[in-house]
Amino acid sequence: MQQEQLVEEIKVLMDLVERNTTSLADEVMEIDVSEYTDPALFDREKELIRNYPQFVGPSCIVPNPGDYFAFDDTGVPILIVRREDGGLNALVNICSHRGAPLNECDHGQAKKGRMFTCPYHGWAYDLDGKLIGVPFAKDGFTGIDRDSLGLRHLDVQEKHGMIFVMPNPNRSFDIDEVLGGIQERIQGFGFEDHYYLGAKKVFTDFSWKLNMDTFHEYYHFEFLHPETIAQMAYSNVAHYKQYGRNHSMGSPTLEINELKKVPEEQWQPREYSSYVNYIFPNTVIFIVNDHFQTWRVYPIAPDRSVVYHSMFLPHEPANDEERQEFEAYFQMINDVAVTEDYSLVDKVHRGLQSGIDRKVLIGRNEPGVQNMHRQLNQVLAT
Ligand code: FES
Ligand SMILES: [Fe+2]
Repeated sequence: MQQEQLVEEIKVLMDLVERNTTSLADEVMEIDVSEYTDPALFDREKELIRNYPQFVGPSCIVPNPGDYFAFDDTGVPILIVRREDGGLNALVNICSHRGAPLNECDHGQAKKGRMFTCPYHGWAYDLDGKLIGVPFAKDGFTGIDRDSLGLRHLDVQEKHGMIFVMPNPNRSFDIDEVLGGIQERIQGFGFEDHYYLGAKKVFTDFSWKLNMDTFHEYYHFEFLHPETIAQMAYSNVAHYKQYGRNHSMGSPTLEINELKKVPEEQWQPREYSSYVNYIFPNTVIFIVNDHFQTWRVYPIAPDRSVVYHSMFLPHEPANDEERQEFEAYFQMINDVAVTEDYSLVDKVHRGLQSGIDRKVLIGRNEPGVQNMHRQLNQVLAT
């Protein structure tokens, strides 16, 4: 968002605070417990992740030619790499020899900025995935057709500072349809040029959907986070907007009314608001003050999921001391999710697994949670 939109958003948030309310859905939603427990439904959700464009990260996750980013949570191991011409390749990260992934870390620079060598037996590929080297080929691999042994390409697209990939090599996608207009909310926050501090990987012993549910409402702040988040943001006050299958929620900080004493031209809206942006089906981009974080959640089993919490800063830390400060902040945010949200959701999961026949209720004040479930059900029904 640009300054003008941010200012308008502040006015909307001030009004919600004034009226002590939040954006409301039309009605209370009821969902079956089986949506969290049914193994057959889970299998379809895993298929969905493999066949629906996946948010990879902001463009700054691979800023320079030769930079790569790898992940293996969609059912297809994926290697994203920035080409010399500034574009991206997405490659199936399976070596044509015996199948090892080509990178040893989840992100970094290709060797000499221009090739990957397999850690198993050293086969080499260029940034386009072409096979360019086979050690001991004269003896071991006479007669192979190198041209047909390159890495397979996936559809990858980058727009408005966001990278998406289609894990299924037989499918392509329309990025504008995937975004559904959410760039209106996300543009202008520097997705192209922030600094990627790193990611924390957390395994949870509950459904990936329970994991996602925690991000879409501000209703629980004063009850579950009285000493942490509720000291910074209002409970149950959020401005919800839908974009295609995605949504965005603006939230005021507790100090927002201080702006009433400041002339509008001098407002620094980002200091008084934060934004949870949901990218269907499994990503949240959380924009707060001068930085942003992403949370990518993947299903593993009906009762197991993994989340990658990534931190993006306005600039690279200038020295060790500054880096330690940012790391400590990153750890603190992650700890809140793990010790406050996830430890409770673990128990929610057990209740849902108990075999007691009941409905899960999602309030009118939880439109984001409603949207995620509604969209999933729609896509899975087709
Ligand atoms: S598996 Fe890659 S070189 Fe053998
Ligand atoms: Fe929470």
